[in-house]
Amino acid sequence: MVDVHRYHEIAESTHRIMNPLTLERLMLVGEICRLNADSRILDLACGKGEMLCQFAAHLGATSVGVDVYPPVIANARARAIELGVVDRVELVEADAAEPLGLGQFDVVSCLGASWIGGGLAGTLQIMTDYAGARAWLLVGEVYWARPPSTELATRYGQEFADLAGTLDIFENAGLDLVEMVLTNSDDWDRYAASQWLNVADWLDANVDHPDAAAVRAERDNSRRRYLTDERGTVGWGVFILRAP
Ligand SMILES: C[S@@+](CC[C@H](N)C(=O)[O-])C[C@H]1O[C@@H](n2cnc3c(N)ncnc32)[C@H](O)[C@@H]1O
Repeated sequence: MVDVHRYHEIAESTHRIMNPLTLERLMLVGEICRLNADSRILDLACGKGEMLCQFAAHLGATSVGVDVYPPVIANARARAIELGVVDRVELVEADAAEPLGLGQFDVVSCLGASWIGGGLAGTLQIMTDYAGARAWLLVGEVYWARPPSTELATRYGQEFADLAGTLDIFENAGLDLVEMVLTNSDDWDRYAASQWLNVADWLDANVDHPDAAAVRAERDNSRRRYLTDERGTVGWGVFILRAP
């Protein structure tokens, strides 16, 4: 079996955004939160830092990005240099579930990594600890667009809910859902299917690599799962919350 981080490094080698959100929708999130040169953002599990670099380059925001996987932090640093925003994007290699003593922020985000707190409720708690008064919380999260089969729900392992159930989790955490930007089926197809091609290209270039068989097996399995029961049932969106 190939390490999950390594698999995604290969499968998402051409992706700057490691979730189904398009750049257009990502920028919409920034506009909704009225980001400007005074905004300070903390992004937990920032991946390749595209959101922070774009928000710095186009909206002037300053940020700290945290990710546990060194290669994506290296990608994020390179992107900050490319977009000329190194002075506004600080990158920290660390486990975002650990207390990092980073202070408080106007925006705290975690897109596509709610497992860091053992699920959505736990991750909201981690995020809230970094949130200043009236801060925006941005959570990129899976929801069930249609009721999942028992097998699919079990496979995902984590408790996801439909949209109303997701709202319940926010309300139970004392947070106000004030906006949301959801992805559509085409966004998901672009995110998922582009990974198949990235893996195919990697396999062509790494025929004798010791991980080749495991990478191919993971690609084959994830592609089959996507086409069998995930497509159309697994939804994804950015939920925009306000701290009390
Ligand atoms: C699906 S990607 C999302 C990346 C980024 N938020 C984005 O949307 O482009 C999940 C990210 O979570 C990171 N990650 C996983 N566990 C983590 C942890 N405990 N602390 C920090 N980052 C973590 C992975 O390295 C990966 O970059």
